[in-house]
Amino acid sequence: MSGLKEIVIALDEGTTNAKAVALDGSGNVMAKFSQPLTIQTPREGWVEQSGEMLIAASLRVLAQAVAHVGAERVAALAISNQRETAIAWYRSSGQPLTSAITWQCSRTAEFCEGLRRDNLAPLIKATTGLPVAPLFSASKMRWLLESVPNGFALAEQGEICLGTIDSWLLWNLTQGAVFACDYSNAARTQLLNLQGAGWDDDMLDIFQIPRAALPKIQPSSGLFGYTRGLDSIPDGIPIMSMVGDSHAALYGHALGEPGRVKATYGTGSSVMAPVTSARSSIGSLATTIAWHDGQDIVYGLEGNIPHTGDAVAWMAEITGLAGLPKAELANALCGLPASVDSTLGVYFVPALTGLGAPWWSENARGAISGLSRGVSQAHLIRAALESITYQIADVVLAMRQHHDFTLSALMVDGGPTCNNWLMQYQADLLGCPVMRSGIPELSAVGAALLARRALGSMPREQMESYASAHVTFQPDMQRHGRLQKRWHEWRHAVERILQQASPPT
Ligand code: G3P
Repeated sequence: MSGLKEIVIALDEGTTNAKAVALDGSGNVMAKFSQPLTIQTPREGWVEQSGEMLIAASLRVLAQAVAHVGAERVAALAISNQRETAIAWYRSSGQPLTSAITWQCSRTAEFCEGLRRDNLAPLIKATTGLPVAPLFSASKMRWLLESVPNGFALAEQGEICLGTIDSWLLWNLTQGAVFACDYSNAARTQLLNLQGAGWDDDMLDIFQIPRAALPKIQPSSGLFGYTRGLDSIPDGIPIMSMVGDSHAALYGHALGEPGRVKATYGTGSSVMAPVTSARSSIGSLATTIAWHDGQDIVYGLEGNIPHTGDAVAWMAEITGLAGLPKAELANALCGLPASVDSTLGVYFVPALTGLGAPWWSENARGAISGLSRGVSQAHLIRAALESITYQIADVVLAMRQHHDFTLSALMVDGGPTCNNWLMQYQADLLGCPVMRSGIPELSAVGAALLARRALGSMPREQMESYASAHVTFQPDMQRHGRLQKRWHEWRHAVERILQQASPPT
């Protein structure tokens, strides 16, 4: 990199916001722009987003960032994105077939149940590292092809493109010149063979996905293409990285020490630890590709939770807090749980579209148990926040059974981690330090660091020192002991809803 071109602009395309973050040559955040996104829930358990809206919002924030810093200073774009969400579009026009089916959607529950009945789950897990669940893109892609006349035949002829959100963004940023995805996103489709790291014939067969409809898989760090034909972004800016948002956050944490595990708190949560091989993980967790840095593939052990920040947003909505201005809402979410000593025995299991790791029940539905006359808004908000910590602890417990897992500290990032009450509760519950990154936009930063790696402009040591600023929440071990009883009660509440979960009709 030379001259004035020192800025990387990272797009973090999430489920609730599209953000663009401009980072200078030392990795410092210079400016950020954000645009909220809308989500449709046309039926119970269905969750969709307009593909055009995702592009419009992404281009808007990118254009704002480029204009802010000056296009002549932009060395590269970097992309981190919501994962597993699937979208299909016509190759000739670039028009989506239908809305994108987002990662939270459980419309393919019945199909997934059929795969388990046919005893295909062990083969799928051994090949892709992922348990059978509607979360992953493959069953959603199949649904997309089924939703239009001749969908499968058109896909076979290469007339339909099937992609994750990274490939949809890249296609639009390059005006259809490049159809590619990165390894981390490909690993979340359930079509990738983890050992061979290519689309797997058996999986394509099982999910009825024609190879001709899928993107080329590239390292997460490297040249993907150049911007082209966009109204407010000049042609010729290189796109130098693409990576799933949770993986980008793991990269941003630059986890150097064994025993450090990261948890991203967003709409949902992802608990992830780097592991040394693609060896398939124990039952309820996923083995996945964390990233391909242009030289090596790094693997991750992961547990996904579909509703964490989302559970609090839902509770805020039904208890009448949602209308508050952003800062007041954030204050209320910190202040209300601290204003009461407990939830008065209330447990909220936020299985709003099912439960993810380690339970994996797409048919489970949420429950609020233990309601009594004295329960107030503060108790309910506290129950929603506690539910985040219990779900993270459930995944950590499952991870403890893995052969090369140790936990000395939980590294955290994402919007809800600004809540000090929540962080302290998490540390006390787990009985280990919780270390909050000093960088709130860690997914964007991780993607930017991968782009810098491809540009050859930031050595690993600089990255590590850059990522090492943290606020640490030390556990109170006396409280840790007391909270075990509550966690136990929570697990009872989960077991009750699992028992009630009916098989799909
Ligand atoms: O796996 C889904 C995850 O990538 C979504 O991220 O940022 O929208 O919560 P976010």
